[in-house]
Amino acid sequence: MKKQVKNNVYWVGKVDWELKKFHGDEYSTHKGSTYNSYLIQEEKTVLVDTVWLPFAKEFVENLSKEIDLKKIDYIIANHGEVDHSGALPELMKLIPDTPIYCTENAVKSLKGQYHQDWNFKVVKTGDKLDLGNGKELIFVEMRMLHWPDSMAAYMTGDNILFSNDAFGQHYATEMLYNDLVDQGELMTESIKYFANILNPFNPILQKKLQEVLSLNLQIDMIATSHGVIWRENPLQIVEKYVQWSADYQENQITVIYDTMWNGTRELAERIALGIQLQDPAVTVKIFNLSKSDFNDVATEVFRSKAIAVGSPTVGNGLLHSVAGFLHYLKSLKFKKKKAAAFGCYGWSGESVKMINDMLADAGFEVIGEGMRQLWNPDEAAKKAAVELGRTIAK
Ligand code: FEO
Repeated sequence: MKKQVKNNVYWVGKVDWELKKFHGDEYSTHKGSTYNSYLIQEEKTVLVDTVWLPFAKEFVENLSKEIDLKKIDYIIANHGEVDHSGALPELMKLIPDTPIYCTENAVKSLKGQYHQDWNFKVVKTGDKLDLGNGKELIFVEMRMLHWPDSMAAYMTGDNILFSNDAFGQHYATEMLYNDLVDQGELMTESIKYFANILNPFNPILQKKLQEVLSLNLQIDMIATSHGVIWRENPLQIVEKYVQWSADYQENQITVIYDTMWNGTRELAERIALGIQLQDPAVTVKIFNLSKSDFNDVATEVFRSKAIAVGSPTVGNGLLHSVAGFLHYLKSLKFKKKKAAAFGCYGWSGESVKMINDMLADAGFEVIGEGMRQLWNPDEAAKKAAVELGRTIAK
């Protein structure tokens, strides 16, 4: 069912309440997601993006109940990733000659994925498409935000920015707008999306935000491709992106570990105690990686000024949960955060040095050599762990 967004602009997407994992299994979506597609019905009829591949048939069936598909003058493909382009093959079987407006890189990605030679019209930043009724779409390339092919489209007259992935959240809702949903949930999903998807591209994002803000466009709505449409104070999410893209941190220190027989867990809890004793104002959180969602823990790292990471030594190495998490953290390119390592061992004890090396490789400023504990921590070792916590807090 299409839902009116504003005047002659309608939402024709899909709400996916069941989705629990996205990007394969790389991103947890506890609150589901939406694939937002928009239909503009001015003198020209324009479809902005589609939905994820599994919903292609349903999308095309629903759309054909709303309009004669042959009346679609233009398709805008803001981004080639399959969660937005997935219904194109099904749709283009019915309207094969309809022009698809997209970036040069999107032609490559769409051809690469679907092996079809559709009627592509390549656009660049500043190119315009007349919609009739005195309105037009202006395209803005968003290269590497977050794919080389990404772009946004701004609709004059109604002042809607179709931003695609930027400013989105994996958040299923039937309510459509930001002011109609739980604000805590909305911000939780927004910051998680930023930390796990957009953070690696911060330098590019900062430039692009300044470029868009300097245009002084009147923006009444930001119509993203996932989650809510920002209509109440839509620039609030742009302001958040300005903050989040500038080496963001809160007054938080996060202790992250995995453990076999609880020795490393005891160290983790003592380190957290030391942080609290040293600075009661700092927010301290502790996560066992094998019992926590790694995207959620990464979001906590994003919010932290420092982290402590622990693993016992196993087979001359780390527990895979910790090694995998550090490998993932490297890809997020966090900056200006400090880190320390800790872990128990029985005979060889390589884990702490390996964690330090991986933390440094992931861009963290490593504090000291960390804490290696032979066998289970005794009273002296527990005190030393508290001291390590104090040092991290200092
Ligand atoms: Fe929502 Fe990059 O796809």
